Amino acid sequence: MKKPVVVSIINNKGGVGKTSVTINLGSVLADNLKVLIIDNDRQANSTSVLTGGKSYEEKNMISLYQDKEFDIINIFENTPIKKELYLLPGNPGIEEIRSVIDGKRDRERILEKKIDSIAEGFDIVLIDNPPSIDVFAYNALYASDFALIPFKPGALEFAGMQNLITTLAAIKKDGHKIELLGVLVNMYNSRTKAATKYIGELIAMLPEEKIFDTMIPVSQDFINAVMDSIPIDLYQDANKSIVNTYLQLRDEFLAKLETFNSKEA
Ligand SMILES: Nc1ncnc2c1ncn2[C@@H]1O[C@H](COP(=O)(O)OP(=O)(O)OP(=O)(O)O)[C@@H](O)[C@H]1O
Ligand SMILES: [Mg+2]
Repeated sequence: MKKPVVVSIINNKGGVGKTSVTINLGSVLADNLKVLIIDNDRQANSTSVLTGGKSYEEKNMISLYQDKEFDIINIFENTPIKKELYLLPGNPGIEEIRSVIDGKRDRERILEKKIDSIAEGFDIVLIDNPPSIDVFAYNALYASDFALIPFKPGALEFAGMQNLITTLAAIKKDGHKIELLGVLVNMYNSRTKAATKYIGELIAMLPEEKIFDTMIPVSQDFINAVMDSIPIDLYQDANKSIVNTYLQLRDEFLAKLETFNSKEA
């Protein structure tokens, strides 16, 4: 891959699988590519899973947003997980600088201005986001080429996703490059009424190519892997078919990026 691709994993609804998708997709991609995860959420969940609970008081997202002289070269940690999986750590203290950032004229474009130098040398950058479309999430969207929306089938989740798609359209209308890479169904359980109803509504709402064929099933394995601070593909006790859904997702994710590449060429 020539140019780094920046993808926001985003949904304003909480608990739909943003962090889970960021970590697990990031990990399988890092088998063949150089991947950076940016933890743009004050909960710093990606950071704690990828580092086994380590916290970063310096050289984290706070310095990215706050410091003019952000030291890009020194910020990345090779995660203990995989050689080619890197992390720009999150920190809960980001909340304390929110009001300072809110007061800046370029408040939504801080990450965008730095992303080229941050992403340099990587193939793929995945940004894990907070469960709201706040100033930090806007920063991620303006810095991203694509948005990937994890979607948990349910009524409130569906409403939230519609709002998010409207937000993406508004950002695009504003002249920004961002494209919806796709909506990814997570926590899929074919036996539930919600799955039938809301996947049906999703299909009615979006063109086929905007919905991932791969659906991530609901499985306790994901919860257990997080307890061990590892991605699903490295979790020894994980069901093979569950791991395979992420390998399938990786292929589909890369194929979708390729489609955009060839359109641009
Ligand atoms: N496919 C799945 N099957 C079962 N549990 C899952 C699945 N995906 C995620 N989970 C679990 O659901 C919970 C919420 O997932 P996760 O933290 O990834 O969501 P999130 O959207 O990042 O949440 P937040 O909005 O709080 O950041 C976690 O405990 C996670 O381990
Ligand atoms: Mg999260």
